[in-house]
Amino acid sequence: MTNSMAIALNTSRLVAVIGSGAMGAGIAQVAAAAGHRVKLYDTRDGAAVKAVAEIRRNYEKLSAKGKMTPAAADAAGGNLLVAGTLEELADAALVVEAIVENLSVKRQLFSDLEAIVADDCILASNTSSLSITAIGAGLRLPQRLVGMHFFNPVPLMALVEVISGLATERCVAEIVHATAIAWGKSPVHAASTPGFIVNRVARPYYAESLRVATEQAASPATLDAVMREAGGFRMGPFELMDLIGHDVNFAVTSSVFAACFNDPRFTPSLLQQELVNAGFLGRKSGRGFYHYGENTDVPEVHTEPAYPMQREAALPVGSAMADMLAARLSSSGIHLRRTYFEHGDDALLECGNATIFLTDGRSATQRAHDNAIPNTVLLDLTLDFSSAKRVALARADQCSDAAYQAAVGLFQAAGYAVSPLADVPGMVVMRTVAMLANEAADAVNQGVCSAPAVDTAMQKGVNYPCGPLAWADSIGLDRVRTVLRNLTNVYGEDRYRISPLIQRKVAAGRTFHG
Ligand code: NAI
Repeated sequence: MTNSMAIALNTSRLVAVIGSGAMGAGIAQVAAAAGHRVKLYDTRDGAAVKAVAEIRRNYEKLSAKGKMTPAAADAAGGNLLVAGTLEELADAALVVEAIVENLSVKRQLFSDLEAIVADDCILASNTSSLSITAIGAGLRLPQRLVGMHFFNPVPLMALVEVISGLATERCVAEIVHATAIAWGKSPVHAASTPGFIVNRVARPYYAESLRVATEQAASPATLDAVMREAGGFRMGPFELMDLIGHDVNFAVTSSVFAACFNDPRFTPSLLQQELVNAGFLGRKSGRGFYHYGENTDVPEVHTEPAYPMQREAALPVGSAMADMLAARLSSSGIHLRRTYFEHGDDALLECGNATIFLTDGRSATQRAHDNAIPNTVLLDLTLDFSSAKRVALARADQCSDAAYQAAVGLFQAAGYAVSPLADVPGMVVMRTVAMLANEAADAVNQGVCSAPAVDTAMQKGVNYPCGPLAWADSIGLDRVRTVLRNLTNVYGEDRYRISPLIQRKVAAGRTFHG
């Protein structure tokens, strides 16, 4: 077998799925729908039988909704078999394990399987946190052990991370990759490192929001609204952590932190630890950052009241960022004057007495001081200024009320809801996106995955509106580097150290997807 010739497992070959919980049942559902006979095995009495019945009901529902033909639903249902013993999996060509997340239990299972299945049977683990290298160690044929990491719910989430351990043979990973495509998924290759791609690169999504919340930037509801309506994320970090469960989210962060020998990049949050200590685990316990259940108030998003609309602003000549805003402002009837700004610090707009800058990782107060412009107002990043519903602003401590209100009135005149953030460095969207891109760049730099793979993974695995590296390209890598450098200066923490790959791209004048 060679890399380039790898083809998907033929549908005539049997797939075995071990563990019939949420993940195993989902994997079986997808594999059987793709045409494989699938045997499901679980040590818990009756669990596999129950799972098969449930999957068949799912096919019927899909068929009722017109998403599967009745014949396909019937055929897929007929492909599912229950195995009563491991020995019944002897003719499998691929075994996917989705049992309890415990290294020694998984090792034992694969070692038992090696005595049962043929030598060319591929062994795959759906582990989300254990090292594939470690699971494979001690096997007679560790080269056939690979990670096949699906996302929950499996039938709906397109991403599959195909994880190679140190011993995994490339052709095994290629076959699994091709098979995932044949099952309708979007697989990416990754090396076995803590968190693989998604669970590593997504850490800053939670961590930076937790940090700015700890620094009293705004309420969780306000930060969520900014991340959704300015940042374009489907769910804000706080509502998402409440959904995932703080126990689970905190455990993943802690395990990546420990697995990376306490790299400060991944330091867990005391704020989240307190929620776990209190048993405020999120939706499942009725309380996390938000309260759930009947008679609970919808948390208020801090939005500025209407200030006098501003109908005039000045924009600098030759600023690409300002140009992106210009279209939205002028289409809202705001008269724009193009001018040369006297100071050299990349201001976006002047309105009334306010000078408005896109955040560069310094606080507004620091930037006001550095430029000797007291009436400094900072704007947070948006995914797309032309369609964003909300913007976030932060004012310098030196900024007058009148100047701040003019800035708010300008964005309100352009149809944005405006949320105030306390003056935290890098605000929230910019700081988060810069750190997501930084982590993604390090994953690429360390050979975990390719740049296209990390962007696909974050879009398909956690629904980000844009891959972090493509997003960093569009912001400008030098700007991202500046944000990270300023965060390093402010905090003096290794956490914000700049990925060598970002530095190299900036020096070469290149982009990730150029
Ligand atoms: P689950 O607890 O819902 O299901 C696990 C099933 O495995 C249970 O039915 C249990 O009876 C069975 N089982 C346990 N030990 C067994 C053994 N030795 N042999 C056969 N069956 C055994 O767990 P879930 O959530 O489905 O997760 C399974 C695996 O998938 C874990 O490794 C987990 O880390 C991973 N994973 C979970 C995700 C999630 O969102 N739940 C996402 C991605 C991966």
